[in-house]
Amino acid sequence: MAGLADSDSSRFLQACRREPVDRTPIWLMRQAGRYMSEYREIRKSIGMLDLIKRPDLSCQVTMQPIDAFDLDAAIIFADILPPLGGLGLKVGFEAGEGPIVYNPVRDEADVLALATPDIQEATGFTLEAIRLARRELDSRGIPLIGFSGAPFTLACYSVEGGSSKDFIITKRLMMGRPDLWRQLMDKLTGLVGGYLRAQAEAGAQALQLFDTWAGLLSPSDYMEFALPYNQAVIREASKAGVPVIYFSTGTDGILELVAQSGADVIGVDWRVDLGEAWRRIGPGFAVQGNLDPVALLGDWPELKKRAAGVLKSAGGRPGHIFNLGHGVLRDTPVDSVRRLVDFVHEYRFEEGT
Ligand code: CP3
Repeated sequence: MAGLADSDSSRFLQACRREPVDRTPIWLMRQAGRYMSEYREIRKSIGMLDLIKRPDLSCQVTMQPIDAFDLDAAIIFADILPPLGGLGLKVGFEAGEGPIVYNPVRDEADVLALATPDIQEATGFTLEAIRLARRELDSRGIPLIGFSGAPFTLACYSVEGGSSKDFIITKRLMMGRPDLWRQLMDKLTGLVGGYLRAQAEAGAQALQLFDTWAGLLSPSDYMEFALPYNQAVIREASKAGVPVIYFSTGTDGILELVAQSGADVIGVDWRVDLGEAWRRIGPGFAVQGNLDPVALLGDWPELKKRAAGVLKSAGGRPGHIFNLGHGVLRDTPVDSVRRLVDFVHEYRFEEGT
């Protein structure tokens, strides 16, 4: 299939493999979403969860930023929380409050009640959206990224029951009942590993693990309570033969541990200089990042300067994938995204401009 060969040799996948590329590839976390009027239009008539459960609409939203900008990869439109339904957790999105788990996991009975997931039944809508999106993307030679929340970040929502800035209930369970924690993490690891593999089998050409809350852990807690489960899911996902990206935030103090996850690509947030992060992570990895998303809210000269700063830090080394240090913010002007994407592609390292 010609399209398949095209997207497999795309600059994004080449960079994941640390092969030299003609231009630095760029895609953006949360590249589909509320900053785009086309997305807001669809959301007027359908809720977030219902949208994710409609493969045709999920595919359509995945394509919106691809149609609007010269991006090097698409990411399937979904969320990290709906797969938790496979464990028997009831997930919802409430306006103004973000995600909610209505029956959070708080004690031994809750952990024992967790179901063994049927991946197809719990996530089949996203797997179907992946198949649909691949058809659209192949003709354009653009690869598709699948994703999942990492076990620790999913545990945060499962125990806390929703968003939090410090996830104290979760960390209390982890510290106070490590036996229960391990059982919960084993369940999540089975779900995430199976889900990632199923996405690759459905057509995802790279897989990203989002560990948004890993930065809440001390180095020794990360090593004991999160890292082994990341290693297990990445081992499982890697069997599918596609590159795995591990993204976390607030982990500048533990980058050396993050690099032990087994991922091919390490995504870093903006709190660390990209070149320094790369030195600490090591030369055997590709690195993704790491412009502060707030820079997209500012003037073009300032945005351009900051984007150039990221590129200079990467220094043209094979294996840099340009991205933000976290997701696109809702007030981001569409024009800033367009200018950023074009600037990254036009940037020449010799000139250093
Ligand atoms: O990156 C993409 O374009 C793919 C789509 C995607 C979404 N969520 C869509 C979404 C991805 C990869 C995610 C991941 C996700 N979801 C994470 C990890 C990455 C991160 O941002 O740290 C987390 C922690 C979640 C959980 C989640 N989902 C939260 C906390 C929220 C509410 C926050 C907010 O911005 O309102 C969501 C909702 C959500 N997920 C939206 C989108 C586009 C906004 C939904 C809407 O109201 O239309």
